[in-house]
Amino acid sequence: MDIVICKNAETAEKLAAAIIADALAAKPNLTLGLATGATMENLYHKLADMKLDFSLCKTFNLDEYVGLPAEDRNSYRYYMNYHFFDRINIDKRNTHLENGVAEDLEAECARYEEMMEEAGGVDLQLLGIGLSGHIGFNEPFSDWSSRTRAVNLTPVTMAQNGPYFDEAKGEKMPNRALTMGVGTVLDAKKLLMLVTGERKADIISKALEGPMTSMVSGSAIQLHPDCVVILDEAAAAKLTMKDYCYSAFANDPKWDAYRDIVK
Ligand code: F6R
Repeated sequence: MDIVICKNAETAEKLAAAIIADALAAKPNLTLGLATGATMENLYHKLADMKLDFSLCKTFNLDEYVGLPAEDRNSYRYYMNYHFFDRINIDKRNTHLENGVAEDLEAECARYEEMMEEAGGVDLQLLGIGLSGHIGFNEPFSDWSSRTRAVNLTPVTMAQNGPYFDEAKGEKMPNRALTMGVGTVLDAKKLLMLVTGERKADIISKALEGPMTSMVSGSAIQLHPDCVVILDEAAAAKLTMKDYCYSAFANDPKWDAYRDIVK
């Protein structure tokens, strides 16, 4: 695992954008796994500003709330259209999120897994991490061979995302979601985790330096053979092995192309 600590969120987002842009340049028909959440908003805007060619690209998002249709402003489909898909030249038919209003959620999850397989699997999976340690919506005790499925959201996640829902307008955060499993995530050929901000310092130190445990789903990325974690200094504040993170970046020629971004 390569851990790169950037001086601030802006630099971290730029580095993540550059890595995605290079992956797309190397494989124009890239299959991208995508994440939502506050952390990713500026990354998507930056990628859109780069005017890249996404015309051959396919995407699969990690998760979607149960019960929210695409047109609901709190659905992840709405988020993705707003922050990314409507700003780039992707063919919307190639963009996929689980259907949170499907009648048969189990069948929907099985269909989603099949579609990913038919697409040849995810080449590059973007990940954030939640305060509960989740990747996607894989809450503590998600089993590591888990696949796309319906899950219950924990109180920590309800508290994390609840403020996005405007109760005065009758909006209520669903307490269930469909999410790729930990096993699904680990099947991606490459993982790119982006985590910024002081409030993530505790959980990211557990995920990266703590024991691999299903109590922190994010720690599963330690198993992946090709995983890059990009942090800002605030998120990295509680890592005890910081020197190793910096040196991985400084000494390895594979990072040469990105050195200007993080200097
Ligand atoms: C959302 C997702 C989640 C978020 C995580 C961090 O698709 O996969 O795991 O990445 O909850 O969210 P923010 O960025 O809002 O802190």
